[in-house]
Amino acid sequence: MNILGIETSCDETGVALYHSERGLLAHELHSQVDLHAVYGGVVPEIASRDHLKRLLPLVSKVLADAGLEKPDAVAHTAGPGLIGALMVGGGMAVGLAKAWGCPVVPVHHMEGHLLAPMLEDEAPEFPFLALLVSGGHSMLIDVRGLGRYELLGTTLDDAVGEAFDKTAKLLGLGYPGGPAVAKLAEEGDETAYSLPRPMLKRPGFDFSFSGLKTAVMLQVRKAEANGEFEARKADLAASFQRAAVDTLVGRALQAAKKSGLGRIVVAGGVGANKLLRAEISERFDGEVYYPRLAFCTDNGAMIAIAGALRLADAENAGEIRAAARWSLDALAPPGKQA
Ligand code: KG4
Ligand code: ZN
Repeated sequence: MNILGIETSCDETGVALYHSERGLLAHELHSQVDLHAVYGGVVPEIASRDHLKRLLPLVSKVLADAGLEKPDAVAHTAGPGLIGALMVGGGMAVGLAKAWGCPVVPVHHMEGHLLAPMLEDEAPEFPFLALLVSGGHSMLIDVRGLGRYELLGTTLDDAVGEAFDKTAKLLGLGYPGGPAVAKLAEEGDETAYSLPRPMLKRPGFDFSFSGLKTAVMLQVRKAEANGEFEARKADLAASFQRAAVDTLVGRALQAAKKSGLGRIVVAGGVGANKLLRAEISERFDGEVYYPRLAFCTDNGAMIAIAGALRLADAENAGEIRAAARWSLDALAPPGKQA
């Protein structure tokens, strides 16, 4: 079976073709970063309009690259995400599926991130602990199988990607903030500032990143007042990145120990962070899996593979499924979705 995957939940238009036995056949991505950069963040209306403009050419390109006229099913991100952007991808999926006479598979965006490491040759087997870290979520999940997710911990306030993005803004770096902070951090001293490692000493596996962000803000103001901002910027970026990574890794190790899981999967946009990848591999006494860097941030390949694994949920093309909010632990195994 050939599954076309469509991702439009935020600011990347991703399209891919995945074959249930042969694996990934083709994938394309159009990033809207330049469109939103001038506003310092994603503008939902601009995102929707650009998805509409980009989708069809990307679908044609991916089909041509795979040497196909049409797929056997169309998977699309049905949530969570920006509602207008989701409607564009869902509308396109339903329209194309109707024209091609094939079914539609609605996919949960975070399940796509979670399954992205399975696109690699060395794919993780169930069960595993997932550290899912993106712009909107920071979650630790006990993954027993497809659609069998127990949420062990989540963020009580900002997601870690959001903390990277806000820190980038405070440091006068562009959007998206994560890669910019990580780059500047390479020139800084990560021990220069002692920033909080929120929640690490508390029971449970929840995260909180707003205190860390506030601590960075106070140090920025102080450095500005002393006329030292430019000189201390890189040290602040490095100290922030170290505190954020220590928190994520510390929590993940606690959760792995408690749940007795010997495999950790790191996925989502922040999973592209080099320090996070290095640190968790070094400190975890078990197997660690990541998607390749290009499949950490939003992409169509993760939606195509999730659709392939969820063919039992395929439905006739009809109503457009789109939900801005949709919790991951509400999912059920394939064929058992409500
Ligand atoms: O998964 P993603 O592409 O979109 C969401 O579903 O949110 O994640 C985007 C987030 C942004 O907050 C971005 O700043 C962050 O991932 N990010 C990074 C890195 N690359 C992307 N954060 C830290 N280090 C990176 N290298
Ligand atoms: Zn995402």
